[in-house]
Amino acid sequence: MMPPSRPAMKSPDANALARSESFTQHLAQKIQQHGPMPFSEYMELCLYHPEWGYYSGRSAIFGEQGDFVTAPEVSDLFAIGLAKHIAAVVAEARSNTNGGGVFAAGVEIIEIGAGSGRLAQDLLAALKAEDCGLSSYRILERSKTLQQRQHERLAEAMSTAGVQFAHVTEIPPGFNGVVIANEVLDALAVERIMADGRGLHRLLVDWNGEQLVLIEGQLSGDLQALAEERLGAICQQIQEEDQLPGAPGRYITELHHQIQPWLSSTLAPMERGMVLLVDYGYPRHEYYHPQRRDGSLMCYFQHQGHDDALRWPGLQDITAFVDFTTVAEVADAQGWTMAGYTSQSHFLLSSGVLQALEQLEDPAEMAMRAEQVRRLMLPGEMGERFQVMQLSRGIAAVGPGFEVDLSYRL
Ligand SMILES: C[S@@+](CC[C@H](N)C(=O)[O-])C[C@H]1O[C@@H](n2cnc3c(N)ncnc32)[C@H](O)[C@@H]1O
Repeated sequence: MMPPSRPAMKSPDANALARSESFTQHLAQKIQQHGPMPFSEYMELCLYHPEWGYYSGRSAIFGEQGDFVTAPEVSDLFAIGLAKHIAAVVAEARSNTNGGGVFAAGVEIIEIGAGSGRLAQDLLAALKAEDCGLSSYRILERSKTLQQRQHERLAEAMSTAGVQFAHVTEIPPGFNGVVIANEVLDALAVERIMADGRGLHRLLVDWNGEQLVLIEGQLSGDLQALAEERLGAICQQIQEEDQLPGAPGRYITELHHQIQPWLSSTLAPMERGMVLLVDYGYPRHEYYHPQRRDGSLMCYFQHQGHDDALRWPGLQDITAFVDFTTVAEVADAQGWTMAGYTSQSHFLLSSGVLQALEQLEDPAEMAMRAEQVRRLMLPGEMGERFQVMQLSRGIAAVGPGFEVDLSYRL
């Protein structure tokens, strides 16, 4: 048994705590009936349970008043960079008879996991400024609560701009256009795997009669094969270290086993166009680096980050960094061309986002914009932790954002 460590933190209010307690009792009952649950099942329920899940709740979760800040919530400069990149790809494709047909009748966008709707709102303005000919903006959103919020924020503005707006449950077959997913892959449920002197184990969530606890379980089948492939070398190293006195003798990490089925099923209906995936993550050799001993799982509650996923089920975000090598491999197997991979910082700079700031004269606005640029682009902030990957099908245009291509790192 591994009792969770509980550093002092800001606490939810009494109503939220009562809600989380009801959810905990529901999870405890489930475990008592069916046995300990895989960590991925626990994470899935915590995020997406229709009644108690984090993304199903009514609380404000994005932005300064919420639990975490995403790039679109930091500044419209993020949307401006994306729009400049998209506009350049569209212009190049239109000038090329081969790829021109994709955008001939206008630019269609599908955003996956649109959160508060802020990116869509800013993209609408930024694509208009680029004179890109946006004809439809659709959202594929899992959370019903967020669908409602997105509709309230966007429907009127889209209609006024003459852009068709709708929510969809899948990418329609034969879709030609642009798909955008910012911080969606990190919200897919992961398995937690532990390597120690005895081998590889899967972490399960159990109920000890008083609280949820993590226990070791056995790996089997496809998951075992995947864990051995990714972690065989680390496991051997841990076994050797285990012989040394005082060695930590334990390595915990995540397996993003849903990336493969999710990418295949979600993107399969698309015929031609490009997919822009933005997320925090690493290439595989960094993801499973021997020194990354505690994995990359993070939980967020009111801007406090920690790794205790068992705390306050349903009240905090749970997320894990993305293994971008896996994304590239899966995309390749599905017939996508990985057109570019770079850091968010390089992407925004190469897209020409700073040109949008050249005309500024008001010192207060200049200071505000400088702070936004710092948060989006500096290495210690979002600049290097976040990566942008473009997958293309049926178009050759790559666009300016990948001028500094880091795909050799994958
Ligand atoms: C971390 S939030 C990011 C929100 C937004 N893209 C942003 O950057 O502010 C993850 C979003 O993805 C949605 N989501 C997670 N899994 C999804 C899936 N399989 N299909 C569609 N939306 C999903 C969540 O409901 C939420 O809106």
